[in-house]
Amino acid sequence: QGPDPSLVYRPNLQPSNAKDKTTFRNYEGGELHDRVFNTYRLMHTHQTLDFIKQKHIQWSSCSHAKLTMMEAIELLDKLVDESDPDVDFPNSFHAFQTAEGIRQQHPDKVTGLMTRTLFQDSIVFRDSTFSENPDFKQSAFSSEYGVYKPNCGLENVTMSWGHDEYLYQVLKFNKCPIPEEGMYIIRFHSFYPWHHHGDYMHLCDDKDMRMLPWVKEFNKFDLYTKSDRLLDAATLRQHYQQLIDKFCPGVLSW
Ligand SMILES: [Fe+2]
Repeated sequence: QGPDPSLVYRPNLQPSNAKDKTTFRNYEGGELHDRVFNTYRLMHTHQTLDFIKQKHIQWSSCSHAKLTMMEAIELLDKLVDESDPDVDFPNSFHAFQTAEGIRQQHPDKVTGLMTRTLFQDSIVFRDSTFSENPDFKQSAFSSEYGVYKPNCGLENVTMSWGHDEYLYQVLKFNKCPIPEEGMYIIRFHSFYPWHHHGDYMHLCDDKDMRMLPWVKEFNKFDLYTKSDRLLDAATLRQHYQQLIDKFCPGVLSW
């Protein structure tokens, strides 16, 4: 396990030596700070339970586009992730960097290419960005369990809406033959308060605990392979096309 990637903005959780070690997921300074803070503020203000339910209805029917997986990855050439304090280049490069990092250490694993109410302290910018969210003031959501039962399983928890859940829904809808661990990693890899800080354990069931090591392992590559050294995408495309043909074949509904 590398240095804790997201302690910096949570002084209450921060060990005295954390700053020296932390260079990724630094939410405190850096030239991208304003862009990142603003993205989190918008997310934490508008992602209410109702909003998320509406996004599920809107997107989980996968009726928006027909694209192969490689065409979808190519669309990421135009996208820079505004929530990410570490990168300022298109997300398609990040996809290939992650996949290559995994390939070097786990030649047999392939998940890398595709890749929260009960407001706990480990959420990024938690103290400064939730005040305008209507759910934040609702007592039903602010207890330890909120609207959930103990150990109900994360698959039964409504997570904030984002690329994780969307890609999971797309792959499920298209019946892609991806192993259970891969599907789980895709769905929960951004849930840092859980997989990195150990929060929300009281909602987890046996499956979550079985899957946790996989999510942690994936996270090393998702995070620490980000760098400005960009790989030759044309060469990589050739290699990954074979894996796509096996695990996400043909034209998919998005
Ligand atoms: Fe991601």
